Amino acid sequence: MTALAHKSAPPAFDVSLIRKDFPILARQVHGKPLVFLDSAASTQKPRAVLDAMTFAFENEYANVHRGAYWLSEKATINYEAAREKVRAFINAKSASEVVFTKGATDAINLVAASYGCLALRPGDEIVLTELEHHSNIVPWQLIRDLTGAVIKVVPINADGSISIDAFAKIIGPKTKIVAVAHVSNVLGTVLPIEAIAELTHKFGAKLLVDGCQGIVHEHVDVQAMGCDFYVFSGHKLYGPNAIGVLWARLELLDAMPPYQGGGDMIATVTFEKSTWAEAPTKFEAGTPPIVPAIGLGAAIDYLNSIDRVAAAAHERDVLQYAMVELSKVPGVKLIGTAQNKASVQSFTMEGAHPHDLATVLDRSGVCVRAGHHCAQPLMDVLGVSATARASFGIYSTRGEVDALVAALHKAREVLL
Ligand code: ALA
Repeated sequence: MTALAHKSAPPAFDVSLIRKDFPILARQVHGKPLVFLDSAASTQKPRAVLDAMTFAFENEYANVHRGAYWLSEKATINYEAAREKVRAFINAKSASEVVFTKGATDAINLVAASYGCLALRPGDEIVLTELEHHSNIVPWQLIRDLTGAVIKVVPINADGSISIDAFAKIIGPKTKIVAVAHVSNVLGTVLPIEAIAELTHKFGAKLLVDGCQGIVHEHVDVQAMGCDFYVFSGHKLYGPNAIGVLWARLELLDAMPPYQGGGDMIATVTFEKSTWAEAPTKFEAGTPPIVPAIGLGAAIDYLNSIDRVAAAAHERDVLQYAMVELSKVPGVKLIGTAQNKASVQSFTMEGAHPHDLATVLDRSGVCVRAGHHCAQPLMDVLGVSATARASFGIYSTRGEVDALVAALHKAREVLL
């Protein structure tokens, strides 16, 4: 147990045991215990993921879907087993609905370019929200500019929540695509996805859910959720980077044209014409992220091995503790206080720029993200240029919140 992993957590979840699974959490920075509060940017990796990837490279590595030899067949089996693990994790109907991508950004670009080309005509509407990060804005702007579609934006409330009524005012007969975050990376707001899906489908439009932050904190069942596309990144889900997932219903994937051309995604190629492989291979041009996919599978195994309900309760406990304790620091203002929110807390400190704050906190070993969090339009809506953000994972502790608060008091002495 580290000095930081000791404050009261709900029973049934021993955070000190969880922390032992993450080797990096034992290290010091600047001579202080690492207090890693930037899990929304990227989570740390459990030993099980590191070991699975090392094992794959050392023992079972070759290109996939190409070799007639044992090693390639074994690598292919492992790669496809990772796809099946993702399928089960999100309760997709079939592993064919799971496309491996470079990350969530890549997956959204895929949908925007491929489904967008298929579905959008001049004047059609793409509906986003004010709290989207750039990954779920810019790909839609690119396809808007190509197709003559129009982007409409659903406003947020002052606390960072969005009411379904606000969606009802924007979604209408011209809507073709609604693309929303499951959970805001800045505000932590959890969006009412099932209600948004119902509204979207009432007008025959399709719903993409950016699950980067959502799948980390919430149980995801894509069938129950009712969305049409769900995307997420491996590196925010305790897995490696360079791997992401696009889930879509098979009939959509079947109808969509390829996003990129290259090896593996074809059935036949002549100089005159090529034909495509079935989904998901149709969308996996070139050598795919083989070992990252295996690492993501190991991350899913790891998450399945812990009590995720208890882990979520623990994260909520740490968040609530942080909201209370941060509010007590003079000059600190919480940004994002929606009732239904995940363990992400943005804040500002009067008189201190968030970048300076993050730099000073770092000297105490405390890692927070500062800046616009790849959500410049949201910063404009909030009327700030930047915020500091503490974000928590299954390994975060109340003790780490105390370390953040102590470092903020120090920062006040240095900066104000
Ligand atoms: N979107 C990531 C974040 O919120 C990078 O930090």
